[in-house]
Amino acid sequence: MNIALITGASGLIGSESVKFFSDKFDLIIGIDNNQRVYFFGNEASTENTKLNLIKSFPNYKHFDADIRDYIALEKIFSEYSNDIKLIVHTAAQPSHDWAAKEPFVDFNINATGTLNLLELTRKYAPNTVFIFTSTNKVYGDTPNNLPLIEFEKRYEIDNNHEYYLNGIDEKMSVDQTKHSLFGASKLSADIFVQEYGRYFGIKTGIFRGGCLTGPNHAGAQLHGFLSYLVKCAMTNVPYTIFGYKGKQVRDNIHSYDLVNMFWHFYQAPRIAEVYNAGGGRHSNCSMIEAIDQINILSGKNLLYTIVDDNRIGDHIWWISDVSKFKKHYPNWNYKYDLNDILTQIIEKFN
Ligand SMILES: NC(=O)c1ccc[n+]([C@@H]2O[C@H](COP(=O)([O-])OP(=O)(O)OC[C@H]3O[C@@H](n4cnc5c(N)ncnc54)[C@H](O)[C@@H]3O)[C@@H](O)[C@H]2O)c1
Repeated sequence: MNIALITGASGLIGSESVKFFSDKFDLIIGIDNNQRVYFFGNEASTENTKLNLIKSFPNYKHFDADIRDYIALEKIFSEYSNDIKLIVHTAAQPSHDWAAKEPFVDFNINATGTLNLLELTRKYAPNTVFIFTSTNKVYGDTPNNLPLIEFEKRYEIDNNHEYYLNGIDEKMSVDQTKHSLFGASKLSADIFVQEYGRYFGIKTGIFRGGCLTGPNHAGAQLHGFLSYLVKCAMTNVPYTIFGYKGKQVRDNIHSYDLVNMFWHFYQAPRIAEVYNAGGGRHSNCSMIEAIDQINILSGKNLLYTIVDDNRIGDHIWWISDVSKFKKHYPNWNYKYDLNDILTQIIEKFN
């Protein structure tokens, strides 16, 4: 039997993974305890997504386990062991602002939870492909030292810089920079996933996400920016932009395109490979540009204020260079761009 095990299965990337892999594996095992409610309140609950997955996919089996609970995880791994051919590990505390509130909770979920999964993989399913959703916050605020130029609606990198054409690649240093506590816990996990590849030979792939997005995000103020922005526009709730005059640039990748990257990696896996994974030059926007575009597409007029204080560790300009991944997997490409993503999120509210 071929099994795909997905942690954070009710979240944005987890649920997209369940959907994507449901016709490619005999059984999909999902692990998610709806911890998102603890982080962001009931509006961010992923319970409905879980129920939909159970209803929609007969080969889906859900476990309400906590990835911090090694014993609960071991029961699952020991039962299915070598039948597990793919692990997509997305469960996490995902917000850098939230991490400072409860550093131990953040670290235990992001770092120790990942180590639990790696160790159980080594023990019960060493031939599996292990995919980890890391983050561009592993580079800390180093991108803010790039030569940036202010335009009317966005910051942009100097067009003579090597990152101008395709964005920031994986060679950027992860050291001696301010990560936020979230960035530090994710970097710990990122390095552990690399190490279980290099040291034990497990086929591990690390995908350092820009903004991951799509209509299935349970957007909350502290996490899921495009989804939350559209929610504010559609429900007439004012939005606050923190710092950089709203000109900070993020790249946005649809959850489908990211999970499709996982699928390409799974079919020709490598060991301890690290990829930047975002919308790149194909799909990016500043906060102000995103609001303009949402207003055009939705016919609404989102009210917003800009305050001076930026979020600690926030990037002023981030565009992921995905050319390393494209070189390794030339058949992969984007299906969706920013307009498609916004249109889909807006449709959800209509
Ligand atoms: N969304 C983004 O913009 C973004 C950007 C970069 C990296 N990432 C990373 O991608 C991954 C997926 O992000 P997402 O947007 O799908 O997040 P999400 O919050 O939508 O989904 C994560 C899921 O994990 C579950 N979870 C959290 N802690 C758990 C625990 N202890 N045990 C079991 N389940 C638990 C949550 O209930 C939630 O359903 C995360 O690792 C995140 O750090 C996300």
